[in-house]
Amino acid sequence: MMGNRSYRVAMTGTGAYLPPKILTNKDLEKMVDTTDEWIVKRTGIKERRIVESGVAASDLASKAALMALKDARVSPKDVQLIITSTITPDSLFPSTSCYVQQKIGATDAGAFDVLAACAGFIYALSIGQNYVRAGLDNVLVIGSECLSTVVDYEDRSTCILFGDGAGAILLQRMNGKGSPEVLSTFLGADGKYADVLGIPAGGSKIPSSSKSIKDRLHYIKFRGREVFKLAIQNLTKVMKKTIDSSGYKVDDFSMFILHQSNFRIIEATMERMNIPKEKAFLNIEKYGNTSSASIPIAIDEVKKSGKLKSGDLVLLAAFGGGLTWSSSVIRW
Ligand code: ACO
Repeated sequence: MMGNRSYRVAMTGTGAYLPPKILTNKDLEKMVDTTDEWIVKRTGIKERRIVESGVAASDLASKAALMALKDARVSPKDVQLIITSTITPDSLFPSTSCYVQQKIGATDAGAFDVLAACAGFIYALSIGQNYVRAGLDNVLVIGSECLSTVVDYEDRSTCILFGDGAGAILLQRMNGKGSPEVLSTFLGADGKYADVLGIPAGGSKIPSSSKSIKDRLHYIKFRGREVFKLAIQNLTKVMKKTIDSSGYKVDDFSMFILHQSNFRIIEATMERMNIPKEKAFLNIEKYGNTSSASIPIAIDEVKKSGKLKSGDLVLLAAFGGGLTWSSSVIRW
Protein backbone atom coordinates (compact mmCIF):
# COMPACT_ATOMS: atom_id res chain seq x y z
CA MET A 1 0.00 0.00 0.00
CA MET A 2 2.94 2.39 -0.47
CA GLY A 3 2.43 5.13 -3.05
CA ASN A 4 3.99 8.30 -4.36
CA ARG A 5 1.68 10.71 -2.53
CA SER A 6 2.65 12.36 0.73
CA TYR A 7 -0.20 12.12 3.21
CA ARG A 8 -0.64 14.24 6.33
CA VAL A 9 -0.26 12.25 9.55
CA ALA A 10 -2.68 12.30 12.50
CA MET A 11 -2.55 10.88 16.02
CA THR A 12 -6.08 9.48 16.09
CA GLY A 13 -5.84 7.37 19.24
CA THR A 14 -3.81 7.45 22.45
CA GLY A 15 -3.46 5.09 25.40
CA ALA A 16 -1.30 4.71 28.50
CA TYR A 17 -0.88 1.96 31.04
CA LEU A 18 0.90 2.30 34.38
CA PRO A 19 1.25 -0.82 36.53
CA PRO A 20 -0.68 -0.47 39.82
CA LYS A 21 2.21 -1.15 42.26
CA ILE A 22 3.65 2.11 43.65
CA LEU A 23 7.22 2.49 44.94
CA THR A 24 7.44 5.68 47.01
CA ASN A 25 10.49 7.63 48.13
CA LYS A 26 9.68 6.45 51.65
CA ASP A 27 9.91 2.83 50.42
CA LEU A 28 13.33 3.63 48.90
CA GLU A 29 14.49 5.10 52.22
CA LYS A 30 14.20 1.55 53.61
CA MET A 31 16.21 0.08 50.72
CA VAL A 32 19.15 2.51 50.27
CA ASP A 33 20.77 5.43 52.13
CA THR A 34 18.54 8.25 50.83
CA THR A 35 15.70 10.52 51.90
CA ASP A 36 12.40 11.62 50.40
CA GLU A 37 13.61 15.22 50.76
CA TRP A 38 16.85 14.59 48.78
CA ILE A 39 15.02 12.82 45.96
CA VAL A 40 12.28 15.48 45.64
CA LYS A 41 14.78 18.34 45.75
CA ARG A 42 17.21 16.84 43.19
CA THR A 43 14.73 15.19 40.82
CA GLY A 44 11.10 16.21 41.49
CA ILE A 45 10.12 12.53 41.83
CA LYS A 46 7.82 11.43 44.66
CA GLU A 47 6.84 7.96 43.52
CA ARG A 48 7.08 5.63 40.54
CA ARG A 49 5.20 2.53 39.34
CA ILE A 50 6.88 -0.86 39.15
CA VAL A 51 5.78 -4.17 37.64
CA GLU A 52 5.21 -7.39 39.53
CA SER A 53 7.71 -10.14 38.80
CA GLY A 54 7.01 -11.86 35.45
CA VAL A 55 5.33 -8.84 33.83
CA ALA A 56 7.19 -7.83 30.65
CA ALA A 57 7.34 -4.74 28.41
CA SER A 58 4.95 -6.36 25.90
CA ASP A 59 2.30 -6.77 28.64
CA LEU A 60 2.30 -3.03 29.39
CA ALA A 61 2.61 -2.18 25.68
CA SER A 62 -0.36 -4.37 24.71
CA LYS A 63 -2.60 -2.72 27.29
CA ALA A 64 -1.64 0.77 26.11
CA ALA A 65 -2.00 -0.27 22.45
CA LEU A 66 -5.51 -1.66 22.96
CA MET A 67 -6.53 1.62 24.65
CA ALA A 68 -5.16 3.65 21.71
CA LEU A 69 -7.05 1.44 19.24
CA LYS A 70 -10.26 1.76 21.26
CA ASP A 71 -9.80 5.54 21.38
CA ALA A 72 -9.49 5.62 17.57
CA ARG A 73 -12.21 2.97 17.06
CA VAL A 74 -9.90 0.80 15.01
CA SER A 75 -9.78 -2.99 15.20
CA PRO A 76 -6.42 -4.68 15.93
CA LYS A 77 -6.94 -6.63 12.71
CA ASP A 78 -6.64 -3.37 10.71
CA VAL A 79 -3.23 -2.43 12.16
CA GLN A 80 -0.56 -2.58 9.45
CA LEU A 81 2.59 -1.90 11.46
CA ILE A 82 3.68 -1.98 15.11
CA ILE A 83 6.82 -0.10 16.19
CA THR A 84 7.85 -0.33 19.84
CA SER A 85 10.58 1.75 21.40
CA THR A 86 12.09 0.06 24.45
CA ILE A 87 15.38 -0.50 26.28
CA THR A 88 13.78 -3.27 28.32
CA PRO A 89 12.52 -5.68 25.64
CA ASP A 90 10.90 -8.96 26.71
CA SER A 91 14.02 -10.71 25.36
CA LEU A 92 16.98 -9.76 23.13
CA PHE A 93 14.98 -11.24 20.28
CA PRO A 94 12.30 -11.70 19.03
CA SER A 95 11.17 -8.11 19.22
CA THR A 96 8.73 -6.87 21.85
CA SER A 97 6.54 -5.69 18.94
CA CYS A 98 6.09 -9.32 17.85
CA TYR A 99 4.81 -10.25 21.31
CA VAL A 100 2.47 -7.22 21.19
CA GLN A 101 1.22 -8.24 17.73
CA GLN A 102 0.23 -11.65 19.08
CA LYS A 103 -1.22 -10.35 22.37
CA ILE A 104 -3.51 -7.76 20.75
CA GLY A 105 -4.44 -9.93 17.74
CA ALA A 106 -3.00 -7.61 15.08
CA THR A 107 -2.72 -10.51 12.67
CA ASP A 108 -1.99 -8.42 9.56
CA ALA A 109 0.70 -6.17 11.04
CA GLY A 110 4.45 -6.03 10.51
CA ALA A 111 6.34 -5.60 13.78
CA PHE A 112 9.76 -4.40 14.90
CA ASP A 113 11.47 -2.50 17.73
CA VAL A 114 13.50 0.71 17.88
CA LEU A 115 16.39 1.32 20.28
CA ALA A 116 17.26 4.95 20.94
CA ALA A 117 16.81 4.89 24.74
CA CYS A 118 14.82 7.78 26.23
CA ALA A 119 14.75 9.57 22.86
CA GLY A 120 13.35 6.41 21.28
CA PHE A 121 9.65 7.17 21.21
CA ILE A 122 10.14 10.17 18.90
CA TYR A 123 12.49 8.05 16.75
CA ALA A 124 9.67 5.48 16.46
CA LEU A 125 7.16 8.27 15.81
CA SER A 126 9.36 9.55 13.00
CA ILE A 127 9.45 6.11 11.35
CA GLY A 128 5.69 5.72 11.76
CA GLN A 129 5.11 9.23 10.40
CA ASN A 130 7.09 8.42 7.27
CA TYR A 131 5.24 5.14 6.69
CA VAL A 132 1.88 6.91 6.95
CA ARG A 133 3.10 9.75 4.71
CA ALA A 134 4.00 7.11 2.14
CA GLY A 135 0.59 5.45 2.22
CA LEU A 136 0.44 2.95 5.07
CA ASP A 137 -2.51 3.31 7.45
CA ASN A 138 -3.03 2.32 11.10
CA VAL A 139 0.51 2.36 12.44
CA LEU A 140 0.86 1.73 16.17
CA VAL A 141 3.78 3.55 17.79
CA ILE A 142 4.51 2.41 21.34
CA GLY A 143 6.95 3.29 24.13
CA SER A 144 7.11 0.63 26.84
CA GLU A 145 9.53 0.05 29.69
CA CYS A 146 10.01 -2.25 32.67
CA LEU A 147 13.01 -0.30 33.96
CA SER A 148 12.62 -1.77 37.46
CA THR A 149 14.01 -5.00 35.95
CA VAL A 150 17.33 -3.32 35.05
CA VAL A 151 17.68 -0.95 38.01
CA ASP A 152 20.18 -1.74 40.76
CA TYR A 153 18.21 -1.30 43.97
CA GLU A 154 21.52 -1.22 45.87
CA ASP A 155 22.71 1.91 43.99
CA ARG A 156 21.10 5.04 45.43
CA SER A 157 22.30 7.27 42.59
CA THR A 158 20.28 5.41 39.93
CA CYS A 159 17.46 3.51 41.66
CA ILE A 160 15.60 6.63 42.73
CA LEU A 161 15.03 7.80 39.17
CA PHE A 162 13.32 5.09 37.16
CA GLY A 163 9.81 3.69 36.85
CA ASP A 164 7.75 1.40 34.60
CA GLY A 165 4.93 2.17 32.17
CA ALA A 166 3.78 2.28 28.57
CA GLY A 167 2.11 4.66 26.16
CA ALA A 168 0.80 4.08 22.64
CA ILE A 169 -0.35 6.22 19.74
CA LEU A 170 -2.22 5.20 16.61
CA LEU A 171 -1.08 7.06 13.50
CA GLN A 172 -3.46 7.37 10.56
CA ARG A 173 -3.81 9.57 7.53
CA MET A 174 -5.34 12.93 8.47
CA ASN A 175 -9.08 12.68 7.96
CA GLY A 176 -10.19 16.16 8.95
CA LYS A 177 -11.66 15.04 12.28
CA GLY A 178 -9.52 17.33 14.42
CA SER A 179 -6.90 14.87 15.69
CA PRO A 180 -3.40 16.17 16.54
CA GLU A 181 -1.18 16.26 13.44
CA VAL A 182 2.51 15.29 13.39
CA LEU A 183 4.06 18.17 11.43
CA SER A 184 7.75 17.28 11.72
CA THR A 185 10.26 15.11 13.54
CA PHE A 186 13.95 15.71 14.08
CA LEU A 187 16.55 13.12 15.19
CA GLY A 188 20.17 13.38 16.38
CA ALA A 189 22.88 11.30 18.05
CA ASP A 190 26.50 11.41 19.25
CA GLY A 191 28.11 8.01 19.77
CA LYS A 192 31.24 9.47 21.32
CA TYR A 193 29.29 9.65 24.57
CA ALA A 194 28.11 6.03 24.35
CA ASP A 195 29.72 5.18 27.69
CA VAL A 196 28.06 7.88 29.84
CA LEU A 197 24.74 6.05 30.07
CA GLY A 198 23.71 2.46 29.39
CA ILE A 199 23.57 -1.19 30.46
CA PRO A 200 27.10 -2.56 29.91
CA ALA A 201 26.48 -6.35 29.88
CA GLY A 202 24.09 -8.77 28.22
CA GLY A 203 24.98 -7.91 24.61
CA SER A 204 27.70 -9.18 22.28
CA LYS A 205 30.46 -7.03 23.83
CA ILE A 206 30.06 -8.34 27.37
CA PRO A 207 27.81 -11.42 27.16
CA SER A 208 25.99 -12.34 30.37
CA SER A 209 28.18 -14.44 32.63
CA SER A 210 28.44 -15.14 36.31
CA LYS A 211 31.18 -12.44 36.38
CA SER A 212 28.98 -9.83 34.67
CA ILE A 213 26.22 -10.58 37.16
CA LYS A 214 28.65 -10.45 40.11
CA ASP A 215 29.96 -7.09 38.83
CA ARG A 216 26.34 -5.86 38.49
CA LEU A 217 26.94 -4.90 34.86
CA HIS A 218 23.44 -5.93 33.75
CA TYR A 219 22.02 -2.86 35.50
CA ILE A 220 21.67 0.75 34.29
CA LYS A 221 24.88 2.74 34.87
CA PHE A 222 25.39 6.43 34.24
CA ARG A 223 27.64 9.31 35.11
CA GLY A 224 24.92 11.51 36.59
CA ARG A 225 26.47 14.99 36.47
CA GLU A 226 27.75 14.53 32.92
CA VAL A 227 24.39 13.22 31.72
CA PHE A 228 22.69 16.14 33.45
CA LYS A 229 24.78 18.73 31.57
CA LEU A 230 24.66 16.93 28.21
CA ALA A 231 20.90 16.57 28.53
CA ILE A 232 20.36 20.32 28.92
CA GLN A 233 22.83 21.21 26.13
CA ASN A 234 21.40 18.77 23.61
CA LEU A 235 17.74 19.30 24.45
CA THR A 236 18.24 23.03 23.92
CA LYS A 237 20.06 22.40 20.62
CA VAL A 238 17.44 20.01 19.20
CA MET A 239 14.52 22.17 20.32
CA LYS A 240 16.03 25.25 18.66
CA LYS A 241 16.73 23.38 15.42
CA THR A 242 13.25 21.90 15.31
CA ILE A 243 11.53 25.22 16.00
CA ASP A 244 13.73 27.09 13.47
CA SER A 245 13.01 24.57 10.71
CA SER A 246 9.27 24.57 11.49
CA GLY A 247 8.78 28.19 10.42
CA TYR A 248 7.18 28.97 13.83
CA LYS A 249 8.63 30.99 16.70
CA VAL A 250 9.15 29.75 20.24
CA ASP A 251 6.26 31.91 21.49
CA ASP A 252 3.86 30.24 19.04
CA PHE A 253 4.01 27.03 21.10
CA SER A 254 1.40 26.45 23.82
CA MET A 255 3.06 23.46 25.47
CA PHE A 256 6.46 21.76 25.70
CA ILE A 257 6.42 18.04 26.45
CA LEU A 258 9.99 17.14 27.40
CA HIS A 259 11.13 13.65 28.37
CA GLN A 260 10.50 13.34 32.11
CA SER A 261 14.02 12.53 33.36
CA ASN A 262 14.51 15.09 36.11
CA PHE A 263 12.47 18.24 36.73
CA ARG A 264 15.72 20.23 37.12
CA ILE A 265 16.77 19.23 33.58
CA ILE A 266 13.36 20.37 32.29
CA GLU A 267 13.47 23.60 34.30
CA ALA A 268 17.03 24.48 33.18
CA THR A 269 16.20 23.73 29.53
CA MET A 270 13.11 25.95 29.66
CA GLU A 271 15.21 28.72 31.24
CA ARG A 272 17.89 28.49 28.54
CA MET A 273 15.21 28.66 25.86
CA ASN A 274 13.57 31.68 27.58
CA ILE A 275 10.25 29.87 27.79
CA PRO A 276 7.93 30.41 30.78
CA LYS A 277 8.15 27.32 33.01
CA GLU A 278 4.37 27.01 33.13
CA LYS A 279 4.45 25.88 29.51
CA ALA A 280 6.36 22.70 30.45
CA PHE A 281 4.33 19.55 30.96
CA LEU A 282 5.25 17.76 34.20
CA ASN A 283 4.18 14.42 35.62
CA ILE A 284 7.60 13.18 36.80
CA GLU A 285 6.37 13.46 40.40
CA LYS A 286 4.08 10.43 39.88
CA TYR A 287 6.01 8.17 37.52
CA GLY A 288 9.73 9.07 37.59
CA ASN A 289 11.77 8.50 34.43
CA THR A 290 9.99 5.90 32.28
CA SER A 291 12.43 6.31 29.34
CA SER A 292 10.66 5.57 26.02
CA ALA A 293 7.26 5.57 27.66
CA SER A 294 7.40 9.07 29.12
CA ILE A 295 6.41 11.05 25.98
CA PRO A 296 3.41 8.89 24.92
CA ILE A 297 2.16 8.70 28.53
CA ALA A 298 2.34 12.52 28.63
CA ILE A 299 0.52 12.90 25.30
CA ASP A 300 -2.28 10.63 26.56
CA GLU A 301 -2.57 12.62 29.81
CA VAL A 302 -2.65 15.93 27.96
CA LYS A 303 -5.31 14.65 25.59
CA LYS A 304 -7.50 13.40 28.46
CA SER A 305 -7.01 16.63 30.42
CA GLY A 306 -8.52 18.69 27.59
CA LYS A 307 -5.94 21.43 28.35
CA LEU A 308 -5.13 22.04 24.70
CA LYS A 309 -7.46 23.26 22.00
CA SER A 310 -7.48 22.33 18.35
CA GLY A 311 -4.72 24.19 16.48
CA ASP A 312 -2.40 24.67 19.52
CA LEU A 313 1.26 23.94 18.77
CA VAL A 314 3.13 21.45 20.96
CA LEU A 315 6.84 20.67 20.96
CA LEU A 316 8.01 17.19 22.01
CA ALA A 317 11.68 16.76 22.93
CA ALA A 318 13.68 13.90 24.42
CA PHE A 319 17.23 12.93 25.26
CA GLY A 320 18.79 9.58 26.15
CA GLY A 321 21.56 7.03 26.05
CA GLY A 322 23.59 6.77 22.85
CA LEU A 323 23.64 9.70 23.18
CA THR A 324 20.45 10.32 21.28
CA TRP A 325 18.04 13.22 21.06
CA SER A 326 14.83 13.87 19.19
CA SER A 327 12.08 16.42 18.83
CA SER A 328 8.74 16.81 17.07
CA VAL A 329 6.23 19.54 16.26
CA ILE A 330 2.59 18.57 16.78
CA ARG A 331 -0.40 20.70 15.82
CA TRP A 332 -3.13 19.73 18.30
N1 ACO B 1 20.26 10.11 48.19
C1 ACO B 1 21.13 10.84 48.90
N2 ACO B 1 22.33 11.23 48.42
C2 ACO B 1 22.64 10.85 47.17
C3 ACO B 1 21.79 10.07 46.38
C4 ACO B 1 20.55 9.70 46.93
N3 ACO B 1 19.66 8.96 46.27
N4 ACO B 1 22.36 9.87 45.19
C5 ACO B 1 23.56 10.48 45.22
N5 ACO B 1 23.73 11.08 46.44
C6 ACO B 1 24.86 11.86 46.90
C7 ACO B 1 26.13 11.55 46.15
O1 ACO B 1 26.78 10.43 46.69
C8 ACO B 1 26.92 12.82 46.36
O2 ACO B 1 27.50 12.78 47.62
P1 ACO B 1 29.00 13.37 47.84
O3 ACO B 1 28.87 14.84 47.50
O4 ACO B 1 29.24 13.08 49.27
O5 ACO B 1 29.86 12.62 46.88
C9 ACO B 1 25.84 13.91 46.40
O6 ACO B 1 24.61 13.23 46.67
C10 ACO B 1 25.70 14.67 45.11
O7 ACO B 1 25.69 13.73 44.04
P2 ACO B 1 25.53 14.19 42.57
O8 ACO B 1 25.52 12.98 41.68
O9 ACO B 1 26.48 15.26 42.25
O10 ACO B 1 24.06 14.82 42.64
P3 ACO B 1 23.27 15.59 41.55
O11 ACO B 1 22.79 16.86 42.07
O12 ACO B 1 24.02 15.59 40.24
O13 ACO B 1 21.98 14.66 41.36
C11 ACO B 1 21.16 13.00 39.84
C12 ACO B 1 22.10 13.30 40.96
C13 ACO B 1 19.74 13.21 40.34
C14 ACO B 1 21.34 11.56 39.41
C15 ACO B 1 21.44 13.98 38.67
O14 ACO B 1 22.81 13.98 38.36
C16 ACO B 1 20.69 13.64 37.44
O15 ACO B 1 19.46 13.70 37.40
N6 ACO B 1 21.41 13.29 36.39
C17 ACO B 1 20.77 12.87 35.17
C18 ACO B 1 20.56 11.44 35.32
C19 ACO B 1 19.48 10.99 34.44
O16 ACO B 1 18.40 11.55 34.38
N7 ACO B 1 19.81 9.92 33.76
C20 ACO B 1 19.00 9.32 32.88
C21 ACO B 1 18.52 10.39 31.92
S1 ACO B 1 18.70 9.98 30.35
C22 ACO B 1 17.55 8.95 30.23
O17 ACO B 1 16.47 9.27 30.58
C23 ACO B 1 17.96 7.57 29.85
